Parts: sequence; C-alpha cells; structure tokens
Amino acid sequence: MKWLFLNAKQRLQRIATNPGYAAKAMLREVTWADERFLAKITGERVSRIRQFIDEPAHTPEFLRHISECEKILRTTRFESADVYAKKVLIQYAIVRALRPETIVETGVANGVSSAHMLLALHKNRQGTLHSIEIGDSTYLPAGREPGWVVPDWLRGRWKFHLGDARQILPQLARELPSLDLFTHDSLHTYEHMKFEFEQAFPFLRPGGILIADDALWNDAFWDFASTKMEPNAQILHGVGSCARGSSDDCDLIASVRACTDLIAPALTDSGSGREAATKSAPALAAGALRCGSPGEPSLRSAAANPKEKEQYQ
Ligand SMILES: C[S@@+](CC[C@H](N)C(=O)[O-])C[C@H]1O[C@@H](n2cnc3c(N)ncnc32)[C@H](O)[C@@H]1O
Repeated sequence: MKWLFLNAKQRLQRIATNPGYAAKAMLREVTWADERFLAKITGERVSRIRQFIDEPAHTPEFLRHISECEKILRTTRFESADVYAKKVLIQYAIVRALRPETIVETGVANGVSSAHMLLALHKNRQGTLHSIEIGDSTYLPAGREPGWVVPDWLRGRWKFHLGDARQILPQLARELPSLDLFTHDSLHTYEHMKFEFEQAFPFLRPGGILIADDALWNDAFWDFASTKMEPNAQILHGVGSCARGSSDDCDLIASVRACTDLIAPALTDSGSGREAATKSAPALAAGALRCGSPGEPSLRSAAANPKEKEQYQ
C-alpha cells in the first residue's frame, strides 16, 4: 500500500473535494475489488496483483526518477497527470501479470504510462513496447521531447513511432507477429477511440487485453466491448480493460450467434421470435459486463455520471 501514501497532499485534496468518491475508492481498496478483476482477466493470483500494484513504489531507482520528473511536470502551465495514480499502476500490473511479448500503445505525451509499462517489461525480462505518438508538444514542458519521462535504462525494450495512429496503427498491427496488449491513450473522441479499438482488437491473441485510458469520457469503450460481447470488461479508475475471450469463449460466442440466426426464424412465422432471440444474446453479454465488484459502478452508470468521469484517477 506504499503507493497510496505517495503524493499524499494531492490525494487529501481530492478526498476533501469529493468525499463520496473517496469513500467508494476506499471500499474498493479494502475489498481488493480492482485486484480481483485484474486477477480474473489475467489469470494471475489476487495476492500477486496486489504486489504488482505496489512494485514501482518499491523500486528505488524508478521512484527517484519519477519524483524528479514530477517536480518538472509541476512547473508546466497544464495540470499534468498524477504520476502516482492507481490508473497507471493498473496498467503496470496488467503488464506484469500478462507477461506480454508485444504491446502497442497510442498516445505517449510525457511518457508516464510508457515508463511504467517499460518497467514492467524490464521486471518480466521479456517483451517490447511499441508506442505511437503524433508529436503534439502542447502538454510537454518547454524543450522536452515526447516520452522524456522514460529513463534511459528502460529504453532498450521501446520502439517509438512518430506519427498519426490513424496511419501507423493499421499497418503496425498487421506487421507484428502477435499482439498481446493494446492500450489507447491518444485522442479521446468517440470516433477515434472506436477506430483504434476496431484496428487493434482483431489482432489481439485470445486472452490478450485491450486497455482504454479515459474510458469514461464517452461511450466508445462500452459500445465496443458490448458489440464484441466480451464478458471480461470493466472500467477501473477511468481505465477500461477488456480481455479477448479464450479461443473456447470465442467459439462459444460464435456458436451462440450462429444458433440465434438459425433457430430464431423457426420460432415464429412473423419473425417476432427472431427479434427476441437476437436481442437476448447481446443482453446476456451486457449483463455479464455489468457484473462488477463491490463499489464498482457498472460501465454505463459510471459513463453516464459526468462528476464521476472527472474524478476517476
Ligand atoms: C493523454 S496524452 C497521453 C498521456 C500518456 N499516456 C502518459 O501517460 O503520459 C495524449 C497524447 O496522444 C497524442 N495524440 C493525439 N492524437 C493522436 C493520434 N491521432 N495519433 C497518435 N497520437 C496522438 C497527443 O499528442 C498526446 O501526446
């Protein structure tokens, strides 16, 4: 729990401005709700996930570097991301638990999430992170390059692609021999998020994971996860995670779809049975999507609450 006490001043300010959210977040901490979901989608033990979440805070060289970077980030005129936020640690823990060979990330900016994922790959002793960044310097301190937060000793496993994800992602996804993890944190418009999900998801291996940062800004993540009928999807601290079903699950889902198409016309001459049956399969999946843990808002209810959108960190 060391991570929880880093950046204590900022956390206390958040508790004061939104005690309701703080209480819910604390309930999630004591029930290990986040960790249980991450364990479910990665197949790792809950206690290990718990260790992973705290690992960056127990890596002195990394912690020293990040706190130096944070001092520089504080001098920018923009409110920068909380470098100690749990949402970054969730991505870190997914990389540690999934042990990916290949990760594709869109949106680097200062490189806070890139640095954490690269630390996880370093600890795993395997894997490569491909990061796509258009090169907009708006959120960077003067004179800094995108990804400047990534320390030199973590750059060996990093392939940086400068350009628009709309051009680079489709080509990169096709070229890579496999894709274990895709993480979106570039342009958070509904259309762009949907575009990236649709490009990356088909290339994810069964059991691979799609992550969307700031998934509460619009319904793109929810809509995408629902259409894919992926039961293993949730939004934690604003980060949407959706695990691609195992090949067995994928076969099952395909069978349900095929059966629905086959038997529905026979149910009634008028076709109304078909309509009911066609609706029932997505409804089943949507129900599974909503089965969160204590204190976890359903995807839809969280997305519909603008106050919570701002508060998820
Ligand atoms: C929210 S910031 C990323 C924050 C970063 N993940 C971190 O943890 O520090 C979004 C970044 O996406 C980049 N971006 C926006 N549109 C993009 C696009 N179409 N392709 C690639 N990068 C894009 C922006 O330049 C910006 O640096």
